[in-house]
Amino acid sequence: EKAGYKHFMAKEIAEQPVVIADALRRYVQNGALQLPMEVDFSAVDRLTMVACGTASYACHVAKYWFEQIAGLPCEIDIASEFRYREPPLSPNQWALFVSQSGETADTLAALRYTRDKVAKIVAVVNVPTSSIARESDLALPIMAGIEVGVASTKAFTCQLTTLALLALKAAVDRGRLTPETLATHLSDLAALPGLMNHALALGASIAAIAEELSEAQDVLFLGRGAMFPLALEGALKLKEISYIHAEGYASGELKHGPIALISPQVPVIVLAPRDHLFEKTVSNMQEVMARHGKVLLISDAKGIAEAGMECWKTITMPEVSDAFAPILYAIPAQLLAYHTAIAKGTDVDQPRNLAKSVTVE
Ligand code: F6R
Repeated sequence: EKAGYKHFMAKEIAEQPVVIADALRRYVQNGALQLPMEVDFSAVDRLTMVACGTASYACHVAKYWFEQIAGLPCEIDIASEFRYREPPLSPNQWALFVSQSGETADTLAALRYTRDKVAKIVAVVNVPTSSIARESDLALPIMAGIEVGVASTKAFTCQLTTLALLALKAAVDRGRLTPETLATHLSDLAALPGLMNHALALGASIAAIAEELSEAQDVLFLGRGAMFPLALEGALKLKEISYIHAEGYASGELKHGPIALISPQVPVIVLAPRDHLFEKTVSNMQEVMARHGKVLLISDAKGIAEAGMECWKTITMPEVSDAFAPILYAIPAQLLAYHTAIAKGTDVDQPRNLAKSVTVE
């Protein structure tokens, strides 16, 4: 069932162009958004998104979309904190729960807490028959297909794609998008499967970098804007399957503490497409290099040409729209973790101490 791949994780990483296209086909038809009728954000004044682990990083990315594209105030929380903090909620807001399995105990408990306190409970799930899907007012499947590898890969990018479409719907409902801008966003999303194929073709060069990365004991991931949560996801993926200690930070936080860790022994992975925040990230990178830190820059050809010279390594990605870059940049982050784990000889599909579905607290 691994279809010729060595691991489920490799198969599931490679499937992403296909499953992202499936998700897009489900929710976009004839160039128009086709979400269920109940998805109408016109009277919604706030969105609270709750999840655990990788799914929570998908929410974290989506916050940038809901706020920047739709102008909808949006908060995110991890389920284990949300459920016991018992935050105040408003009857005009929606609560959105993201879960691959749909059975995560903390996320389900958080969902139950919001019942009767919000206008609508929406679930973004991979398993449509799951508890979280059943207990929500509306469940939107992410179309990833069964995910076997314990480390989530294709479910993450399908969650992002579904959330991106929801954010676009929110923007339309709130009168924030002209038909032209909506069409541009939809064509940017439609370009993703093709771009993902290009990113997947970088596997061999990423494997060569991973060979060296596997010697590190600690790794930092940096990103700005919606690439910040992707830095968190990259670090989580690396620690989960290669057991290398890794942390993700917002680039701008570097000088507030983590810069003390910089040394030639701590590779710093910078996720930075050449967007409007690129110059800021470059200056953070220079601070790292001035302290003899070694930087792996993941950017597009323009970004690499502008800032790649003194880097330890570079990965040249295809150009992608600013807004949806995190969906594409998930691939090199996943491939780095995968190949580093292979270099270390760890059990990629069944990492120690982890379960695919966390049904207990
Ligand atoms: C990471 C990973 C976990 C899950 C988390 C939530 O690779 O798989 O962090 O994302 O346990 O699981 P679901 O999405 O099933 O609620």
